[in-house]
Amino acid sequence: MFDRTFQRSACARRTTGVTLDHAAALYDWLAPVMTLGMETRLHRQVVAAMDLDRPMAVLDIGCGTGSLTRLIADAMPAGGGWTIGIDAAEKMIDVARRKAGSRSLQFEAALAEDLPYPPASFDRAVSTFFFHHLDVRLKTRAIAEIQRVLRPGGRAHILDVDIPTTRFGSFCAHAGYHLFRQPEIMENINGMLRLVIATSGFKDSWRIVSRHAGYLSLYELTVPSDKPEGVKS
Ligand SMILES: C[S@@+](CC[C@H](N)C(=O)[O-])C[C@H]1O[C@@H](n2cnc3c(N)ncnc32)[C@H](O)[C@@H]1O
Repeated sequence: MFDRTFQRSACARRTTGVTLDHAAALYDWLAPVMTLGMETRLHRQVVAAMDLDRPMAVLDIGCGTGSLTRLIADAMPAGGGWTIGIDAAEKMIDVARRKAGSRSLQFEAALAEDLPYPPASFDRAVSTFFFHHLDVRLKTRAIAEIQRVLRPGGRAHILDVDIPTTRFGSFCAHAGYHLFRQPEIMENINGMLRLVIATSGFKDSWRIVSRHAGYLSLYELTVPSDKPEGVKS
């Protein structure tokens, strides 16, 4: 197996999140397998839920090699908007930049719990398969950061492991936990992501948009349109 602590890049060493420098070269092969072939279909469903009907500023958090980030940039109407992907693992960002080609995409090494952007910078924030890499303390900080960087009326979409609703879903979620030995996955299985969202600044403005494979939920969090710009949760 990989030595995850030894191979962490400088940015990744600043977080206790589970970072993936060690898997960057293989990630695009592993992700479809780990998601049972659902990766691209799920990414497309997330992009559809984001309502990118006008040029917008979009932040993809924990973007990995940028597969979702590129789909977002492609879905945006021509003539404006910008899409940034951030990840703590600098090797993931290197791969994402190489794959971006000439598209108007930006990738930066940064931490979800300490986003390097001013308040009210984005119309949309998104994360897929990311929150099960953070413990409950970091989940809480990352959600607060999302609220801070979204504009009034802005929305966040989060797709991640949640409380399983089927036997198959329970099997998949627990298999992931045992395979990666990641307590953060068990937190999600036990409903901690949901609890963090429900007790955050979004507590009156979140919903589950859809459920997938019996263990994944797509959440939508909305900043009220009348929120004064940059207000912290
Ligand atoms: C499973 S990957 C998900 C990648 C991509 N979103 C996707 O849908 O395939 C989770 C990513 O979160 C990153 N990560 C972990 N902790 C982080 C943190 N505190 N801030 C930003 N990224 C982090 C990891 O390095 C990894 O690339």
